[in-house]
Order: sequence, then structure tokens, then C-alpha cells
Amino acid sequence: MSGEKKTLWSGRFSEGASHSTLAFTSSLQDDSRLARYDVIGSLAHVRMLARQNVIGAKDAKDIEDGLKEILAQVEDRTLPIQQDLEDIHSNIEFILTDRIQDAGARLHTGRSRNDQVVTDVRMFLRDATLDTIEAIMMLEKGLMERAEAYRDVILPGFTHVQHAQPVTVGHWMMAHLQRLQRDAERFIDSYKRLNICPLGSAALAGTTYSIDRTYTAQLLGFEAPCANSIDGVSDRDFVAEYLFAAALTVVHLSSLCEELVYWSSPEFGFLEMADAYSTGSSIMPQKKNPDVAELTRGRAGAALGDLINIMVTMKGLPTAYNRDLQEDKPALFASYDRLIPCLRMTTSMITTMKLNSERMLQACREGFLNATDLADYLVVKGLPFRKAHEVVGAVVRHAIERKCRLEDLSLRELKGFCDLIEDDVFEVLPIERCVARRTSLGGTSPEVFPPQAERARSGLKAQAAFADRERKRIASAFSALLA
Ligand code: ARG
Repeated sequence: MSGEKKTLWSGRFSEGASHSTLAFTSSLQDDSRLARYDVIGSLAHVRMLARQNVIGAKDAKDIEDGLKEILAQVEDRTLPIQQDLEDIHSNIEFILTDRIQDAGARLHTGRSRNDQVVTDVRMFLRDATLDTIEAIMMLEKGLMERAEAYRDVILPGFTHVQHAQPVTVGHWMMAHLQRLQRDAERFIDSYKRLNICPLGSAALAGTTYSIDRTYTAQLLGFEAPCANSIDGVSDRDFVAEYLFAAALTVVHLSSLCEELVYWSSPEFGFLEMADAYSTGSSIMPQKKNPDVAELTRGRAGAALGDLINIMVTMKGLPTAYNRDLQEDKPALFASYDRLIPCLRMTTSMITTMKLNSERMLQACREGFLNATDLADYLVVKGLPFRKAHEVVGAVVRHAIERKCRLEDLSLRELKGFCDLIEDDVFEVLPIERCVARRTSLGGTSPEVFPPQAERARSGLKAQAAFADRERKRIASAFSALLA
């Protein structure tokens, strides 16, 4: 029954854990991808221990050399990971100690796997968050370029999927861009709570050694050490924040993709997806399906599932470390691994799809998209809006019976509903005029597109500056550690 491998805690036990227990408790499958961060965290820890004279210079040098050798093996994927050691932390410490003996056995002074693992996850998530922000920015740029190219092209705007008022393609694209800008900003905002170093919290209570946590945090490029050791090992808020921001981003993508899906149906025919981002049918030779958009829409389900997963894991958990917290990683990794391709594929679809401007304008002939404009016209002539609404409702009913558009009715007919209507009504009814006249701030008129675009561009610039700065900060901290 007993496991053969010596575990990190074997002193207390007369028998090893069963193979089934080791298999059940192992996190190696997931946390192996933290290997690089684990080694870097250890390098910072040992440098701090040596500077504080907690361990000797010779031991520190041996540990640093040993860790650097391990890092090289992590990078070229030749590290001899042992599946029967329960996690990546045990593996690295085992390999190091096997190579440099007692010096390696001093590495774990003044720390615990509890603070070690959460430090690793934070370092991973810093990079993942920056990757995410950059992937969102690519989509923002794609939307921006196409919005600019299509700022004058008109299509029906929908509410309840019913014709509402005409808008421009550019304006519709900028609406999606706004959502994504908030997503990017949400990731940026969460970063300040993420970029905090728990290392040195040790098991839960801090440590008796005279460690310098501020120095360790600085070596790893963190903003500051965490303020409380119990919170340090239990806090997974930053994981939940990433999962929420990721879930909301995929929810936004699902809404965009939903529009792409039905707008590419022949009933709408507003757009055609590039062949490269479409698939066919095994039985119906004529088919061209928007599977990429559908799968992006579909993956919102799993993204929400990951968020619920971590929230339920955290709910009611006592403070400090509990093994449940090991379950943070599968949800986090899955969420990141799903989100990046969803963003990239959506970017590809947006930048390559063909828009059918004629068809969109044609669709504006139906559904009385200019009815509000007729009501607004009557308001300008002095009628209270509620009454104008009533009048135009009756005009629309009449036009439905006559099977014509509002602008096809004669002045005589129109006057029959309200004698405030004059010849100038035909100036406000054309669809182009309905769009052009909506110049209110944030409105659909191409005239007010430039300030909207300008604002979006400066948002993008701020996001890029943030990502660049943080990338540089991390790279320079890491390269100093590895020098
Ligand atoms: N594999 C663990 C995790 O991912 C590492 C920390 C284990 N700590 C412990 N006391 N068992 O959370």
C-alpha cells in the first residue's frame, strides 16, 4: 500500500501515502506549467536569504547555480519531472537537492509551499493578464480600422431584433469596441491587486527568520509585499477577478458573434465570412457555416463555468491555506487558454469578413426606420412628442395597409393625419438624413464619429502604454535575477 518515494513530509509518517492518495492529491498535471515561475521565485527567495545572512554565501551560490541549471532544463523541456512527486514545487526542490545535497535542502528556509504556489500563480497571471490585454487590443484595432472604413455605410439598427432606427456599420462596430475597451481596462485595474507578493507569508503566520519581504517582492517585479501572512496564503481574489473579467469578455464576444452568425444568413445577407474562417458540411455540399463564430459564442458557457467554479471553491473556505485552493489552477488555466484563441479568431473574422453595403442599405427600405424622425419632425412643428408618436403610429398603420414606405405617401395623405405636415417633411425622411442628423454626443451620425474614434484611440494608447511598461518591468526584474 505504501508509496515508495520519500515525500517532503516523510518524517512524521511511519508509512508512505498510498499510490491512490498520491494520484488523487497530485497537481503536477496542472502546475508543471508554473515551473519557470517557481524557479524564478526560488532565485529571489535565496538571494534575499543570503543578503539577510539567513543562509551562507556558498550555499546561496550553489542554490543559484543549481536553479539556473534547472531553469535551462525547464526552458528546453528536459527537466526530469517525476510523476510520483505531487507537484512542481516538490519536483524542483527534489532535483535541486539531489544535485547539490544539503545546500538544496536549505532552500525551503522561511517559506512554505503555501506562499510559494500563490506567488507562482500571481507571476503566471501577470503574464497571462498582459497577453489578454494585448489580444483584446488586437481586436479593438481590427474593429477600429473597419469602423473607420465603414463609418458612412448604413444598415438597420435593431432592438428586439426588429427594425428600429438606421445606424452606420462604423457606429455598430464602435459599440462592440466600447465593450472591449472596458474589458481591457478591467484587466488593467485588476492588475494592481494581482501584482502583490505573498512570498514570505510562509505557511500562514510569517517566519522567525529576519527575512526582507520588500526586497523579495522587488526582485520579482511586484509592486509590494502583501500586508498579512494569513491573507497572503488564502487570497485568490485575483484569480476570481481574472475569471470574471475573462467571462465577461467572452460574453461580449458571444454577443458580437451572435450578430455575425445571423447577419451572414441569406435572410440578412449583410456579411460573408472569409472562407478561411468558415467550415462546410459533410452532407450538404452548398453549405458555408460560421462555426468559428458559433464556437466563440458557445465557449461563453465554459467561461462562466470557470468563474462559478472558483467562487464556489472559495465560498465558506476557512482563512489560510486549505488544499481546496489547489483547484484554482485548472479553472484559471482553462479560462486563459480559451480566451486568447477566442479573441484572436474573432479578430481574424472581423478583419476579413466581407460586408455587403448595398444589401444593408436595401434592408433599410423596410420596417419604417424613419418613423421616429417623422415624430421628431412634428415635435419641431410644435406638437408634444406623445401626440406626435400617436399620429405617426397611425401613419405607419396606413402605410402597412398600402404596402408602401412613409416617404411614398403623398403630402395630401400625410396631411390627413396632421395638418402641421408640410412639403419639407420629405427632407427628413430619407434614411441617409435620419443618420446624418443624429449628431448628439455618441450618436450615429458620421459627423460625430471622429471624436468617438479619437477617444477610443487614446484608450488604446493608454492600454498599450500600460502593457509595455509592465512587460518591461517584469523583464528587467527577471533579467537582473538571472544575471
Ligand atoms: N499543490 C499545492 C497547490 O497547488 C501546493 C501547496 C501545497 N501545500 C500544502 N500544504 N499541501 O495548492
